[in-house]
Amino acid sequence: MWYFVPKEHWKRMATCALLVAGISFYSGCAGQAPAKPGTLQTDPRFANAVRLYRANCVACHGDRLQGGVGPNLEHVGARLTEAAIARQIDKGGGPMPGYGPDQQGILTRAEIDELAAWLSTLR
Ligand code: HEC
Repeated sequence: MWYFVPKEHWKRMATCALLVAGISFYSGCAGQAPAKPGTLQTDPRFANAVRLYRANCVACHGDRLQGGVGPNLEHVGARLTEAAIARQIDKGGGPMPGYGPDQQGILTRAEIDELAAWLSTLR
């Protein structure tokens, strides 16, 4: 029945397949075991930050902060100050898009601060 699928559909499906292949390629490169959901360590104080992370960041930084397209964030607090982390999330940098009100406008200043407060505890 595949030959009844309109041409436009095939293009879209091919793009999808490429995306999926690309993502597995990247995780393959990082040499990580397949990500297990729900294993992100968490302190109840940062439950909302973790929720925001899951909603916005896992595609590039991994669901356990292990990295992928973006760098590993497991010990980002040892490398960057809270302010620097907030700035990266707010403005973006390199291939990372900015999430702040004057960028994509996906996160509020308060949400960015919550994320930065949490990530800066990861040493
Ligand atoms: C489209 C992929 C992508 C998404 C989505 C993304 N990032 Fe990034 N992130 C990157 C890349 C790539 C870098 C490295 C930037 C550079 O080299 O300048 C980076 C860098 C960072 C850094 C600095 C790490 C370091 O060691 O320098 C932090 C912190 C960070 N991201 C947090 C986040 C958070 C929090 C989110 C979700 C709100 C997020 N990122 C979403 C791709 C992404």
